[in-house]
Amino acid sequence: MRRIIIDTDCGSDDAVALMMALKSESVKVEAITTIGGNVPLQIATGNALMTMEICAAQMPPVYRGAEKPLFRELVTAVNVHGDDGMGDLDLIHPTIRAQEGHAADIILRLVEKYPDEMEMVAIGPATNIALAIMKDPTTMRKVKRIYSMGTAGFGPGNCTPVSEFNVYVDAEAYHIMLNAGIPVTIIGFDVCLGEAALNRQELDTLSNSGVRTAEFAAKCNRRLVEYNLEANRACFLDLPDAVAMAALLWPDVVLEKKSCCAHVCFKEPETYGQVILNDGRKLAIQEGFGGKEPNVEVCTKFDNKKMKERLMTLLIKE
Ligand code: BDR
Ligand code: CA
Repeated sequence: MRRIIIDTDCGSDDAVALMMALKSESVKVEAITTIGGNVPLQIATGNALMTMEICAAQMPPVYRGAEKPLFRELVTAVNVHGDDGMGDLDLIHPTIRAQEGHAADIILRLVEKYPDEMEMVAIGPATNIALAIMKDPTTMRKVKRIYSMGTAGFGPGNCTPVSEFNVYVDAEAYHIMLNAGIPVTIIGFDVCLGEAALNRQELDTLSNSGVRTAEFAAKCNRRLVEYNLEANRACFLDLPDAVAMAALLWPDVVLEKKSCCAHVCFKEPETYGQVILNDGRKLAIQEGFGGKEPNVEVCTKFDNKKMKERLMTLLIKE
């Protein structure tokens, strides 16, 4: 059985990704580690605990990590996910509690215990992972692979014209993660839109299913759906973290991946959080960027129909 750690800033799309893994029979979730991002750390932790309780499937230990990015103040996404990150519907009343211990230490402990076996799904800012790398880079090189929901992929940013939220919150941490010698698969924001997003009919199916997890998934994303209506004048629910989880759980839904050299910009305010991806195509100036070895693989195409069918089936499963 594959072993995974989920590192999350648990907002409403993270909750769906957690449910997918917790309900899956093909992975064992060894730990959920939390990070400040979509919402402050304490709220993210409560959201992860509540999601687990609603799911009533796997019950891994939950550990808190960093409250703040490495060098900057926290930027949240409460305008997108709600003040509580879960649609502000008073859904969050967990009775279970987080464990003692810092996320970065727990990550290191699990990687030591299962060298070259532990896979990670990073669906928030990379701060906890960077802290673990800074503490013990040798151990972290024994992580089998990190599936990272991060970067704008080959499209525009969702946070600034060039930056995606998870990288924008802590670009220095993302830079550390990409250059630590750990295999990384990137699921950028570009592949999470369009047909990858749930449409109104799919949302109604979840809401009317009579199944607790499916209803919770629809309800907690209420604010995100409203945000999309305001911003795009269209009713849809993009679930970037669920797409990242799908890449780990269901490799056959990933139709195309490209080996890329990824460069994280963190020096200028205007480009902070941008990730430049060079997919190896011939460049007029080969020196510098063109000459660098790939350090990531980037998912560029999904079988969206298959992915959403599996997602819906999993969420509606009692
Ligand atoms: C990412 O940022 C957050 O808003 C989501 O949870 C996701 O991890 C998308 O840019
Ligand atoms: Ca997230």
